[in-house]
Amino acid sequence: MALVALGVTGGISAYKSVEVCRGLQKLGHEVVAVMTRAATKFVGPLTFEAITRREVITSQWTPGANADIEHIALASDIGLLLVAPCTANVIGKFAHGMADDFLTSLYLATTAPVLIAPAMNTNMLAHPAVQENVRILEARGVRRVEPGEGYLACGWVGKGRLAEPAEIVEAAQAILAPVDASWRGRHVVVSAGPTYEDIDPVRFVGNRSSGRMGFALAADARRRGARVTLVAGPTRMEPPQVETLVRVRSAAEMHAAVLAAAEGADVVVMAAAVADYTPVAPAAGKIAKGDGPLVLTLERTRDVLADLGARRARHSGEGPVLVGFAAETSDLLAKAAVKRERKGVDMIVANDVSNPDIGFDVDANAVSIVSAGGVVDVPRQSKMRIAAAILDQVTPLLRPAPVPVRS
Ligand code: CTP
Repeated sequence: MALVALGVTGGISAYKSVEVCRGLQKLGHEVVAVMTRAATKFVGPLTFEAITRREVITSQWTPGANADIEHIALASDIGLLLVAPCTANVIGKFAHGMADDFLTSLYLATTAPVLIAPAMNTNMLAHPAVQENVRILEARGVRRVEPGEGYLACGWVGKGRLAEPAEIVEAAQAILAPVDASWRGRHVVVSAGPTYEDIDPVRFVGNRSSGRMGFALAADARRRGARVTLVAGPTRMEPPQVETLVRVRSAAEMHAAVLAAAEGADVVVMAAAVADYTPVAPAAGKIAKGDGPLVLTLERTRDVLADLGARRARHSGEGPVLVGFAAETSDLLAKAAVKRERKGVDMIVANDVSNPDIGFDVDANAVSIVSAGGVVDVPRQSKMRIAAAILDQVTPLLRPAPVPVRS
């Protein structure tokens, strides 16, 4: 069980972090509350002191608090820094390395994982400055529990409400929980993002895949203790920390990289949106415009997943567990089942791309997991949680781990 630093910042929902604190304690974690000056205007430090049975840190300048250079001491003791609620101000300070109070100093001083639960007014959350700061933190590996939608304390209706305490506790536990014995030491290959098929030296045919789903799968496999090879197409998002990152651009490069990495792997998850077609012959020089229409001739790319399925079939079924995705606009389950059979894979994760709230280029998804065992519906939630639900379904398909040989 871990020591969690619970950062509480100045938002109306600060009172909800009392419940977050309780939830963490119920799971057996110790909590030390770190409140910003603004937070103390919303909730009394005494509340946290009574619940945590520890002194609440409210200032860097409390006499005695620095005897042990406390933010440094605490920084090395904690297993997680959780900030809930996390205001736009603190997100901005974290993003830009400003350390003008205990919490922001602790953020810089700790190497523990950091999880934030933003909460603010809808327009503040949507502001490009805040969004940019959130992206900076995301790229740095700071995890996030997305704010909910609904009636906000300021009277607005929209996105920005602090996520439910139970959801925050669950996200914290996912980080703190010990690795999963079934996954420890497994080699997992994940593909993510789009591919770009060049038309000429400056133009390409691509798609809107952000890479988020694949990145979430890679991060979750790693959290479980697996060794991860991530084969990523061109994305703007920063990939998570993995053992091996292979950057590719085209479907042909993706094919070569995934087939090579899959040799001897335990699981391959093809979350990448690989182009189905590529220009027959990319022009050597930039294509100049003419008066008439431009005709591009495209040819089929090789299907990575189908080739993995065929290779496994040739080896009498010996090979990695194979998971593919299917983006459909109609007859989701029937088409996914056909795709599973046709490509010779274990599982197809199907999502309905006709719904703009889920799937491509957004943070949430809702999927149906189709395998030989039937269909498991996973309702709309963050891609991080969808990733965990998918890998939970893969767990029973893993081959028994080899018994270590004693010498
Ligand atoms: N895939 C692949 N190689 C390709 C194309 C797709 O490995 N050249 C994988 C994707 O990573 C994904 C799955 O196959 O896991 C998607 O299957 P696909 O047949 O391309 O289906 P969709 O693109 O969803 O739909 P459609 O069948 O309509 O093309």
